Amino acid sequence: MKTDKIINEIIKNMTLTEKIGQMTQLPPTIYIHDSEAVIYGALRNLNLDRLQTFNAGSILGIGSPKEMIKLQKLYLDNATHKVPLMFMADVIHGYKTIFPVPIALASSFNFDVARKAARISAKESYLSGIHVVFSPMCDLSRDPRWGRVVEGFGEDVYLTGEMAKAMVEGYTNYGKLGEDSVACCIKHFAGYGAAEGGRDYNTVDLSRLSLYRDYLPAYKKALDAGADLVMTAFNTLDGVPAVINPFLLKDVLRDAWQSKALTIADYDALNQVIEHGAAKDQVEAALKGIKAGLDIEMASSVYMNKLENLVKSNQVFESQIDEIVGRIIELKIKLNLFENPYSGVNPEKEKEVCLSEEHLNYAKESAIESAVLLENNGILPFKQNTKIALVGPFSKSRAFNGPWSWKGKDDVNSSLEEVFQEQLKFVSEKTNFNDFTDDELLQIKNADVCLITLGEEPHLSGEAHSRSDISLPNNQDEFFESIKQIAKKTVVLVFGGRPLLLNRVKKADALMMCWFLGSKSSEAIYDLCMGKANPSGKLPMSFPRNVGQIPIYYNYLNTGRAYTEGSRNPFVSKYLDVENTPLYPFGYGLSYANFKYSDLSLLKNDLTENDSLVISVTITNESNTLGMEAVQLYIRDYVADIVRPVKELKKVKKVLFKPNESKRIEFELNYNDLSYFDSEGKLKLENGDFLIMVGCSSEEYLSLNFNLKK
Ligand code: BGC
Repeated sequence: MKTDKIINEIIKNMTLTEKIGQMTQLPPTIYIHDSEAVIYGALRNLNLDRLQTFNAGSILGIGSPKEMIKLQKLYLDNATHKVPLMFMADVIHGYKTIFPVPIALASSFNFDVARKAARISAKESYLSGIHVVFSPMCDLSRDPRWGRVVEGFGEDVYLTGEMAKAMVEGYTNYGKLGEDSVACCIKHFAGYGAAEGGRDYNTVDLSRLSLYRDYLPAYKKALDAGADLVMTAFNTLDGVPAVINPFLLKDVLRDAWQSKALTIADYDALNQVIEHGAAKDQVEAALKGIKAGLDIEMASSVYMNKLENLVKSNQVFESQIDEIVGRIIELKIKLNLFENPYSGVNPEKEKEVCLSEEHLNYAKESAIESAVLLENNGILPFKQNTKIALVGPFSKSRAFNGPWSWKGKDDVNSSLEEVFQEQLKFVSEKTNFNDFTDDELLQIKNADVCLITLGEEPHLSGEAHSRSDISLPNNQDEFFESIKQIAKKTVVLVFGGRPLLLNRVKKADALMMCWFLGSKSSEAIYDLCMGKANPSGKLPMSFPRNVGQIPIYYNYLNTGRAYTEGSRNPFVSKYLDVENTPLYPFGYGLSYANFKYSDLSLLKNDLTENDSLVISVTITNESNTLGMEAVQLYIRDYVADIVRPVKELKKVKKVLFKPNESKRIEFELNYNDLSYFDSEGKLKLENGDFLIMVGCSSEEYLSLNFNLKK
């Protein structure tokens, strides 16, 4: 039978109450009181009777594969219909094997890394009975104060979109649901990363231009790659909460993008429109939700308790409910749940596959690619016999999984003390310099180098964890400076979920941004420090010099009074007390190899609609070290109807170079790459001059001019 017919058959046999139930997602604690599931968010009194709970369509989070089996069975035994539950969960950067946090995965500048991490996460999740993961987060952010930058891919629209696309491909195995893959739900639609002041959940007030140009394309790319669901954001846009925003859910998602993806509210968000002041009560919230195009609510019961009366009083058509439930059932069919409600779940195999050697090896490989070397005066890599004093809050820690790793256990991980064993002459977790005894100070002095671990604990970033001050916490700058006074050499490892202020620790002999690199963080850092691996990460967000520079991003618009270095004209766009540039720019990151760029040229000069421009550059590894380079191509559209950014990343290629190897790298640009969105969301392409830049960061590149004549 054709899917449409099957769906109609199923819907025909359901009551209105049962159908509306499908549009609600509940946490497992409603059914299993001692559930091991970790739910983020306070649960209100949902006012649901027992019968209602056996109408819910999906579950948010689940404690274990056994729990999933128990709950599915309980549900099917008690439900008055035959539609199985669908299980969704926050698998963000790994299930049990934990990969680098998304901002770190983005630093790999390697889409294959994100794809493979997602692929492995899908395999582990699938066996545990999870059908849908709430990832990737496509929210672009230019504000490092926002705690959730850790869950995203940084400040750039291209990088964010390509990373999200790769993760969708990995989770779904290119759309092959129901084998060892999972469906995915992108989030948070839309503009959540633009919360004012970087304060989580705060108001978003974006221009349509910025929305179309910077914020929306990543969600679109992820949908085109095969994401089946879209989670709405907590914020307002144009004063309307995203969860009931018809512009986002209808005009953009359904009409402009022609997407049939299911929309799901973020946790309790449909209820929260009342607190926003956008609905007077749950009846109005339900009506606004359904009218705007919200399909499923999460952890609230507005639809379950209010929608039926709205249908009965003809304010909502039952056909609309049928259409939504049809798409929910379609996904359940795609996931094979009607044939086997326990599809995938396998407690024995889950134990065998999760944290397998293969998965952990990849956790290490991805971690190696995600660390970013920011400074190095030649101290790194260490020689085998280097005597190291290891200090700072992370020296004995195993807490490198980072936020959103509820299934990741720290005891799987090693500490830096454990992996550096052989080289260590001294280890201390003390964070106050004055607490060191004379003997300890002597040991630090005598070591060849002091390896100082600094940064933010995992709980300082993530949802609801914004900071107004992004300097290193707990006087760590002073701690570093005191050690620097006595140590022969200092190397600083910074952990954290956001760009931090590193002006002071920049003075170390070497500085590495380690984010939270997951299950194999310490092993990866060891290999990088000892030269068994070569750093190749690049920054996906600008690191500001101070908080006052925020928002600071590489693809800004030129002003009519742009500051140029050396100019004496005071009437230009600048600060009196700080440079315009960030401390470390987007795309920046060092290697132990030395890559030289030369001979940038256009292989084909003319560009037509169905053809591409071919740009090529020679890159030579002028060192005896094997290394990877993330080659970046930016464009600038000099003149257009609206002002265009001074640079826009359009292509990235991560390439491996043998010692002293030289390669010609080619990029193609087509009409789409040179086009831009206007404030009505129309894609435009205008004749004229473009600058094409190819280099190792957004500030270091070779360039050439191209004139477009359509
Ligand atoms: C977060 C989402 C998450 C959901 C379910 C919310 O608080 O904003 O990103 O998927 O909870 O746990």
